[in-house]
Amino acid sequence: MVGVEDDELMSYFLKDKWVLITGASSGFGAGAARAFGACGCRLLLGARRVDRLEQTAAAALEAGAREALVYPLDVASTASVTIFMEWVSSKTNTLDVLINNAGGAHGLDPVATATDADWEAMFQSNVLGLLRVTRAAIPMLLKAPGSSIINIGSYAAHVAYEGGAAYCAAKAGELKITQALRLELAGTGVRVSTVDPGLAETEFALVRFKGDKARAAKLYEGTQPLTAEDIGETLVWVASRPAHVNIDEMLIKCADQAAMHKVHRRPKS
Ligand SMILES: NC(=O)c1ccc[n+]([C@@H]2O[C@H](COP(=O)([O-])OP(=O)(O)OC[C@H]3O[C@@H](n4cnc5c(N)ncnc54)[C@H](OP(=O)(O)O)[C@@H]3O)[C@@H](O)[C@H]2O)c1
Repeated sequence: MVGVEDDELMSYFLKDKWVLITGASSGFGAGAARAFGACGCRLLLGARRVDRLEQTAAAALEAGAREALVYPLDVASTASVTIFMEWVSSKTNTLDVLINNAGGAHGLDPVATATDADWEAMFQSNVLGLLRVTRAAIPMLLKAPGSSIINIGSYAAHVAYEGGAAYCAAKAGELKITQALRLELAGTGVRVSTVDPGLAETEFALVRFKGDKARAAKLYEGTQPLTAEDIGETLVWVASRPAHVNIDEMLIKCADQAAMHKVHRRPKS
């Protein structure tokens, strides 16, 4: 946890700032909304499940958000991104923070048996969706020097694992997009970061295993994974560095995950 004085300083930097979060209906996106909300930010929240977005917005307002506005967004569709960004433009001319979080993994099948549908879903959201939203948001970010694009990558961008070929490739793509964007935006005042989490307990595993709750729960058995709060707090920290500081890449894992294939698990008591 950060100290009280640090909390106050971060709120000072972020108060009243416009923060756009994709994939805010659950997990890290919802955690980010609560964390930026606690700093008094004005939130623009998108995802496909609007009922869940409304729950996120209510929690963010309770945490202290100045505003928490929601609108449907499917980052896999250019038309949806265009309509969403028109809605964003109707609320504000400038954007201070863009959190490209929408994404996830679909399936854990080896290449030999994986499906086109899973591969396409992963590239649509994690790679193309991030590109689409970023392209549309850049003009608004340019109007707010010191603004930040923070992409949610993954430990999977750095270390491959069996059954993860397409997801690892998609997140490696996210890492390269982040690096290219930083070059393209150098000197504009727009900062570009990637926060790359390891094992974290959200709806990620439930989505990956297509609703199989028992299989999803097994992933976290005996460990203390990262939480949505851990990542929300980290994103606030990255965004609230002084304007001349760019956190390029942050790999963040739970202490139990020493490596991709070495996760400490406690025996059942
Ligand atoms: N949990 C982990 O272990 C972990 C580790 C590293 C990285 N990550 C990454 O962290 C990000 C957030 O995942 P999470 O762990 O918070 O999982 P999550 O709880 O499943 O949240 C994923 C979010 O992405 C949204 N989303 C997915 N596809 C979308 C689309 N086409 N258009 C708009 N929104 C979409 C979902 O909203 P709707 O379904 O309502 O659209 C949901 O809000 C993802 O990019 C994931 O790859 C997760």
